[in-house]
Amino acid sequence: MEYLGIDIGGSGIKGAIVDTQTGEFASERLRIDTPQPAKPAPVAEVVAEIAAQFKWRAAIGCTFPAIVQHGVTMTAANVDGEWIGTDAQQLFSSQTGNAVVVLNDADAAGIAEMNFGAGRGHNGSVLILTLGTGVGSSMFIKGLLAPNTEFGHLVIRGKSAELRTSDRARQVKGYSWKRWAKRLSEHLRYLEFLISPDLFIIGGGVSKRSEKFLPLIDCKTAIVPAQLRNRAGIVGAALAAADLE
Ligand code: BGC
Repeated sequence: MEYLGIDIGGSGIKGAIVDTQTGEFASERLRIDTPQPAKPAPVAEVVAEIAAQFKWRAAIGCTFPAIVQHGVTMTAANVDGEWIGTDAQQLFSSQTGNAVVVLNDADAAGIAEMNFGAGRGHNGSVLILTLGTGVGSSMFIKGLLAPNTEFGHLVIRGKSAELRTSDRARQVKGYSWKRWAKRLSEHLRYLEFLISPDLFIIGGGVSKRSEKFLPLIDCKTAIVPAQLRNRAGIVGAALAAADLE
């Protein structure tokens, strides 16, 4: 089956039709700049524009970089504050005229990795961290997602961890790979202590440079890079849409 997956990020909103049996794109990937300020109404227009360009008339999956509970966006760490308490699912459904499921971006990336990437076939407890503008997390126990874990916001040395371990922090603060890996190791060891996972999967754009920092990570748990790269959000969103029907 094919479903439309849309990945809403701080700088771009990307969509593609996905073959949910294989995890491959069944169309080209379309990208439209995220409107600034990224308030609900203009973002919903872009979502509708992407669906219209694909002439899409079936369920849509859509990621969002915040806690999403039953379609309502509950936080706004790296997005416009107007999203807090917005029923994004209803907003996107009415704009597109289709059934829409909205889920956290890291949860979507995790679903994709568990089905088609680094977590495929893993039946233990797996924690995926996405390192980008913020730090997202998704946790799977025997293949089942515990949604909205938000482990990027654990407090380490008095600060939200993502302020030290996101890829943005690495770039803005000019950390060397070694220095950044030390911070990331601290974050991972704290997670080890809290949830004892069997496997860490590191995703986000920086995962394509994993050879620069994964060998420097100091923790006990097995750790591997994500495999779906920038397709993960779209693929996970499409899988969530498939679940809707
Ligand atoms: C947000 C998460 C999101 C992550 C990655 C964090 O700041 O709180 O919900 O998954 O950034 O976008």
